[in-house]
This record gives sequence, C-alpha cells and structure tokens, in this order.
Amino acid sequence: MTERLNAYNQLSTAAGNQRVVPRRTPPRNSRLLSPTHLLTRFGDLYGASVPMQQLFKLIERVAPTHANVLISGESGTGKELVASTIHQMSGRLGKPYVALNCGGISPQLIEAELFGHERGSFTGAIRMHKGCFERADGGTLFLDEVTEMPMEMQVKLLRVLETGGLCRVGGDGEMPVDVRVIAATNRNPLEAIEKNLLRSDLFYRLSVFPIAVPALRERKEDIELLANLFLGNLNKQACTAKIFSRISRRFMNEYHWPGNVRELKNLVHRAFILADKEMDVTTVAMSAKLVPAVTNGDCVILPVGSKLADAEQQLIFATLGHCGGNKTRAAELLGVSLKTLYNRLNDNDNRPAENGGARTKPSTSN
Ligand SMILES: Nc1ncnc2c1ncn2[C@@H]1O[C@H](COP(=O)(O)OP(=O)(O)OP(=O)(O)O)[C@@H](O)[C@H]1O
Ligand SMILES: [Mg+2]
Repeated sequence: MTERLNAYNQLSTAAGNQRVVPRRTPPRNSRLLSPTHLLTRFGDLYGASVPMQQLFKLIERVAPTHANVLISGESGTGKELVASTIHQMSGRLGKPYVALNCGGISPQLIEAELFGHERGSFTGAIRMHKGCFERADGGTLFLDEVTEMPMEMQVKLLRVLETGGLCRVGGDGEMPVDVRVIAATNRNPLEAIEKNLLRSDLFYRLSVFPIAVPALRERKEDIELLANLFLGNLNKQACTAKIFSRISRRFMNEYHWPGNVRELKNLVHRAFILADKEMDVTTVAMSAKLVPAVTNGDCVILPVGSKLADAEQQLIFATLGHCGGNKTRAAELLGVSLKTLYNRLNDNDNRPAENGGARTKPSTSN
C-alpha cells in the first residue's frame, strides 16, 4: 500500500514540461510588504512557489483534454479554484459548470440531485427535476467531497461514467450525457479506499489525472504574497492603506497554517477589521486561540491573579504559535526538554476547560 501511495503521490504532483504563462495582468502593488507582482495569476489561482508553478503546469496539460480529474489536498488549499480553473481553460468554457458538494446533501436526496427524477417518482416529487449531470451536459460537473458520497451511489456514479448515459429516478429510459467530471477530496484517496469511503473502481475511473494541491506550509514563498494580495484587495475595497506590522510578517512565515489559504485569508480579514493602520496578525491569531491570554508582539500578557498553571499553558501555546507549531523549537525556547513539553501539553488536554470551553491550542508538528 505504501508503494502504491508513493506512486500516486508522485504522479499527482509531477510537473509537465510546459512553460506556465500568466493569464492576466498581475495585481498592482500598494504599500505592501513585498512585491505582489511576483505572484502569478493562473485562472482563479495565485501562486509564485515552485509547487504552485508545477500545479499550474499540470492544470495547463489536463485542462484541454476530456480526462476526469481527481483533486486532493488539505482543507482550504484551493481545490475548488483548481476545478474552476480547469473548466475555464478547457474547451468547455461557455458551457455549464455545475458544482455539487456530496458531503452537504442527505444520502436520500443525492441520487435525485445527481441524476434528476421524474414527476411522481417519490413522495414530494411534484414535478420533473433535472439532476446535476443533465444540467452540466456539454460542460463540467464538479463533485466536491466525493469520498462522502454513500457507497451505493458511488456504484451508480461509476456506471454513468462508464456508459455515458443516465436514468432519472423513476424514469425508464437511459439518456446520453456529455459531462467531464472533476472530483475533489480533502482525504488521501488511497487511505479513503482502505477505510471503505471510496470504491477503488470509482477511484481509478475518476483519477485518470490526479492532482494534489500542496498545503500552504509546503509553499512558504506564497504566504506573504497571498497575504499581501488579500490585504491589497481589502484596502482597495475600503479605500484604506493598512499595512502589516513587522511581527505579523514573522508570524505568518513561521506559523504552520493547518487551515491553509482559507485560514490565512480569514486571519488577514480579521486583523484588517481590527486595525486602524498597522495590522498585528500575531495578536489576532493568538487571541482567537489563547483566550484569555493576550499577546502584544512577542509578549504574552496575563491578568494579575491568573493561576500559575494557566500562565504556564498560555506561555507554552504562545511559544508554539511563535514557532509555527514546531515542538522541538518551542521546547528549546522554553528551556525544557521535548519530553517535558509533551507532558505539559498532555496535562493541558486532561484539564477541564474553563472560560466557557475557550481553552484551545494551536495544532503542532515536530
Ligand atoms: N492559490 C490561491 N489563490 C488565491 N486564493 C486562494 C488560493 N487557494 C485558496 N484560495 C482561497 O482560499 C479559500 C479556500 O479555497 P477553496 O474553497 O478552493 O479550498 P478547498 O481546498 O476547496 O477547501 P475545502 O476542502 O475546505 O473545501 C477561498 O476563499 C479561496 O478563494
Ligand atoms: Mg472545497
């Protein structure tokens, strides 16, 4: 399984040998930390790092073909943008692009949602309804969170992909459809197969062309550029000229971004709302995670009267946040062994939550 997993991972991140051409004019730089013009715009996606340039090459290769695509990647990495970019760069541009979140629809309704239903085919079916496949005819169907689709539906989906024809619920005739399917999952597809969440035959059908979207922490060059892009957009909308503080810049580069680009975008937005001029992303990040401790630049501020154990925990979490979740580095800074740090973190996990359950900690890595 490990070999298969490695082979899959290599295939889904391998770059083609074409040059990536920026699609549109890069955004203008305005009072930002570093030049946003380094950021390539590729369809709906932005990125300057090598992993993103490789991703753009893969998209450029596959977009004009008819191949089904399976996009994998952590939550918030931009899978939806990859799907819409493939559609935009395909010959199907101008034809429908229909998206269905398979995890957000009840198992009872998903068949009718995918394939449509005839009038009177079940209680409540008062009129004929066209499903996503029919609505996407000639274009692209994006099946998000495909591993959340019930197994019996996966069999039916596979049949449509193999025959190119579908039958509405309650219908008796099969009708041909011409749909390119792009699916996405934030699970590792092969692990999803092992856990019986994804049928292997559907996986092979969908992943004619697998694409793995890299996590933000694997493309650190993009962090500041994206942050500047988001800030630039907010400044433009609000006619302001807010800037990041120096400490924000350090924090953003060191934090490990478990929520990826979505987390970065939301954090910049939150800091933007709270700041008059200079934005301190560190304080905003820490106050969201370390209630009631407040950080001010490199400091943790605690009210007099705080319990010693609380103060210790807040310092540990602030240091972990400062080190981007790296426990080894955090232990060094705190002057304790890694084992001691683990023990303290376990102590925290076992303590009852106070302050309305607000005790949370940043996720960590080694
Ligand atoms: N490369 C990028 N350039 C610009 N914005 C991005 C990029 N990647 C992600 N984003 C932004 O981050 C947010 C999350 O992106 P998206 O919804 O595509 O992620 P996802 O991988 O589908 O997440 P999930 O698995 O949780 O559904 C969106 O607001 C999107 O616009
Ligand atoms: Mg998504």
